Amino acid sequence: MKTINVGVIGMGWMGTVHSRSYASMRDRFFDGGVLPNLVMCADNVEARLEEAQARFGFAETSTNWMDVINHPDIDAVSITSPNFLHREMVMAAVAAGKHVMCEKPIGLLPDDVAACYKAAKEAGLMTFTGLNYRWVPLVQYAKNMIDSGQLGEITNYYGRFFAMYASDPLGMLSWRFLKEEAGTGALGDLMPHAADMAQFLAGPIKRVTSTTQTVVTERPLPVPGRGTHFSKGQPGDPTGAVTNEDYVGAMFEFDSGARGTIEISRAIFGPKVENRFEIYGTKGAIRWNFETMDELEIYLPDGSNAHDGFTRILASPDNPFYSRFQPGPGNNMSYDDLKVVEAYHFLKSIADGEQLEPSFKSAYEFAQVHDAMMRSWESGAWEDVRDI
Ligand SMILES: NC(=O)c1ccc[n+]([C@@H]2O[C@H](COP(=O)([O-])OP(=O)(O)OC[C@H]3O[C@@H](n4cnc5c(N)ncnc54)[C@H](O)[C@@H]3O)[C@@H](O)[C@H]2O)c1
Repeated sequence: MKTINVGVIGMGWMGTVHSRSYASMRDRFFDGGVLPNLVMCADNVEARLEEAQARFGFAETSTNWMDVINHPDIDAVSITSPNFLHREMVMAAVAAGKHVMCEKPIGLLPDDVAACYKAAKEAGLMTFTGLNYRWVPLVQYAKNMIDSGQLGEITNYYGRFFAMYASDPLGMLSWRFLKEEAGTGALGDLMPHAADMAQFLAGPIKRVTSTTQTVVTERPLPVPGRGTHFSKGQPGDPTGAVTNEDYVGAMFEFDSGARGTIEISRAIFGPKVENRFEIYGTKGAIRWNFETMDELEIYLPDGSNAHDGFTRILASPDNPFYSRFQPGPGNNMSYDDLKVVEAYHFLKSIADGEQLEPSFKSAYEFAQVHDAMMRSWESGAWEDVRDI
């Protein structure tokens, strides 16, 4: 059994989830050949450190994130800070020889992702990123179905990530709504998940055309150090301008020739986390929605018109990773379980010296699509996906 000494930087929503995931590995992946030791966490808000230490048992804490980077015992760092800090933190971790897990989108813009990917690769370090929806057991099963040819040749991909977190105009103006702190809006926040899913399941995207919109243009100013992007202000609170987009729509062509569309919004009214895909092939089709993540609809006609329609299956221990969490079919898993699978694959990469995905390479492959979508907003035309 190998032990990897871990540090976590940024103890908000994701820092808490990463820490809980490392702590859960002892239970869920006890026989996985690698376990974490939580050495130090950092946040500039002191109260978050006290809470994190009490909850997850970090040996040390610091309000200076460089203490994590410079800690001689730490092998691997999780970076879960706001986007504008990612590049500086990743580069410092790489310079200090630490393996690094950084939440998507890895910086503000595609250039940042490319720089981080290239620096870590050159240094020979293991990397990972939070494209966590890949780890849903039925998504893994869907990938196996596609790769083994059960759906035939893929002809059409339909993706969507409709989230509600910015649908209320009283939702506070957190860092996510500011170009200087988040980079793009929904494009950097939700599209990494939606477009990565498309590329994971149906292969590389070749060219795109895209449109965008900001729905809520002013929001209440937040109280520094408190709240998340789910927090609300009050009517009459002072407001500030939203400087990035709420919505992105895109149409694209895959290298394979298949056609696809994706729509994402952080300000939709109704759906909560409707991260969904529909994939159509020449022999069958599948449909999935994260809101019911342990259900997959499968269309595999047997040739008889009497039995011709979608069948709904429920996740079971025969699907990848499911039995780590539930012993019998139909017992639902949760978002946080996906992050435990993710944490395991990051530490497994380090323990075995073999890079598993989604690493910074996968993030870079999305960044190329991100870049083409932004170019399309400017040109109003189809844009090729190309190197950055
Ligand atoms: N993979 C996913 O599903 C997923 C979901 C949510 C967020 N994310 C990503 O995770 C990252 C964090 O998002 P979040 O929702 O956890 O944000 P958050 O605002 O809840 O947390 C960010 C934390 O970073 C801390 N921080 C800010 N400046 C710091 C500094 N200089 N030094 C140390 N800590 C500092 C803040 O105090 C806060 O605790 C973002 O990049 C986001 O895109 C990914």
